[in-house]
Amino acid sequence: MVGAGPGGYVAAIRAAQLGLNVACIEEETALGGTCLRIGCIPSKALLESSHRFSEAKESFAQNGILLEGVKLDLAAMLRRKEQVVNTLTRGVDALFKKNRVTRYLGHGRFVAPQTLNVENSKEPLELKAKSILIATGSKPATQPGITLDGVRVVTSTEALAFAEVPKHLVVIGGGYIGLELGSVWRRLGARVTILEFLDRILPGMDGEISSQAKKIFEKQGLEFHLGCKVRSVRVEADQCRVDSEGQDPITCDRVLVAVGRLPNTDRLGLENIEVELHKKGFIPVNDNFETSAEGVFAIGDVITGPMLAHKAEEEGIACVEHLVTGHGHVNYQTIPGVVYTHPEIASVGRTEEQLQEAGTPYRKGVFPFRANARARTLGSLEGWVKILAHAETDRILGVHMLGAHVGDLINEAATAISFAASSEDLARTCHAHPTLGEALREAALAVSKRAINF
Ligand code: NAI
Repeated sequence: MVGAGPGGYVAAIRAAQLGLNVACIEEETALGGTCLRIGCIPSKALLESSHRFSEAKESFAQNGILLEGVKLDLAAMLRRKEQVVNTLTRGVDALFKKNRVTRYLGHGRFVAPQTLNVENSKEPLELKAKSILIATGSKPATQPGITLDGVRVVTSTEALAFAEVPKHLVVIGGGYIGLELGSVWRRLGARVTILEFLDRILPGMDGEISSQAKKIFEKQGLEFHLGCKVRSVRVEADQCRVDSEGQDPITCDRVLVAVGRLPNTDRLGLENIEVELHKKGFIPVNDNFETSAEGVFAIGDVITGPMLAHKAEEEGIACVEHLVTGHGHVNYQTIPGVVYTHPEIASVGRTEEQLQEAGTPYRKGVFPFRANARARTLGSLEGWVKILAHAETDRILGVHMLGAHVGDLINEAATAISFAASSEDLARTCHAHPTLGEALREAALAVSKRAINF
C-alpha cells in the first residue's frame, strides 16, 4: 500500500482481514491522509465550532437563552480542531497495530515492477511485493497567474489554520472547499467574496439546489461573483489584489484558492514501471483497479471520478476483495456527495439535468423541511428533499437534499438506491416521528402526489 489516507488505510485493513501480509508506506508522520489531517475532519470541526458561535450570537435568543458578550477565542477553536484530528489519526495507528499492518515512514517510489524504495526513511529501504496499491491521493490545483505563498494566497491547508480572522477573504472557486471554508470564516466575522468561473456554484450538483443554496448563503453574508474569470493575484505588502476579466479589481487580505485538486502521481517513479498517465496526471485502471503494470493497482483521487474519501474507501475495499476473492465491485450510483455548510447539501444518484440529458422519463417528489415537525422544533426550516424516480418502473434514480443534517439523511437514500428500491418502497417504510427522515418518506409519497403534510 502506498499512502495511508482513507483509501489506503481502509484497503490495508481489509487486505489484512483477508489474510494478506500488508505493509503501508506513508510519508507523513500522522496517518489518515488529507482527509483526516488537513481536509474533511479539521474542516468539519471548524464548521461545527463556527456554527455554534454564530448560533450563540444569532439564534440562542429565539430559544430563550440570553447571552451577553459572546466572544471568539480562535486559538481555542483551532486547538479543539487539532485535538479531534490527533485523536483520529492516532486511531488509525492503533487500527494498523490491531490488524498487523506494518507501517513504513517515507516516500514510496517505484524502482522496478513490484519494487518500491522508501525514500527519506531513517535507513535506505527497498520493499518487494506481489501486489502494490497506489493510494497517494491529491493536492490542491492552482492556475496560471496565481502563485501560492502559503500566507496571503493559500490553499485549504492554510485556510484551516489562519491565526486571525481575515478582514476580507476572497475565495477562488465556488465548489466544496470554497463554500465550506468560506462559511467558516464568514461566521467568524470575515467579509467573504467567492469568485466562481461558471455561472453557478457547485457544478455537478442538482441545479435547483445550487441556485437555492446560493440564495441562502447570500442571506448569511457570502458574496458571489459568478462567471468570474480570475486573471491574476498579486501580493503587495499585506494586501492582495485580485484581477478578473471585465471586473473591478478586488483588494483583500487573504485569498483562498479552491479550484479543484490534482492527483499525486508525479513523484512515484511510474516511468520505471511503464505506467502512462492521463493528461491531468490520473492513472488509468481497468474495472478491477489494475494499472497497465501487472500487480500494480490504483484507487481514490489518483484515478478518475469524484475526489471523495468514501469513494476511495469503496474502491480500496473492492480492489483488495477482488484480488483475494475474485469478487469486488463499486456501485458509483450510490456514492453520495455532501457539502457541510448550514444548511447542508447532499446528493446521490442522478441529477434532474442528467436524466433530462439522457432522455430518461422520471417523476419527481419534493417535500420542504418547513412542513416537517422535527425541522420546526430545530428551527431549521430551510430546504427540501427531492426524489427522482423512473416514470415507468418507479425505481429511485436520484435523491437531492438541502437542509439541516441532510448529510446524515443521504445515507438512507444511498441504501435505497443500492437495493434498487422504488419510491413506493420508501413511501411504505415506517419512519420514526418526529424526525427529519420523515421528509424523505414524504418526498417519496410526493412522487405519486400523496404527501400527507404538504
Ligand atoms: P471543486 O471541484 O468542488 O470546486 C472547484 C470550483 O472552482 C468549481 O466550481 C469550478 O468551476 C471553480 N473553478 C475552477 N477554476 C476556476 C477559476 N480559475 N476561477 C474561478 N473558479 C474556478 O473543488 P474544491 O472545492 O477545490 O475541492 C477539491 C476536492 O475536494 C473536490 O473534488 C471535493 O470533492 C473534495 N472535497 C470534498 C468535501 C466534502 O466531501 N464535503 C469538502 C472539501 C473538498
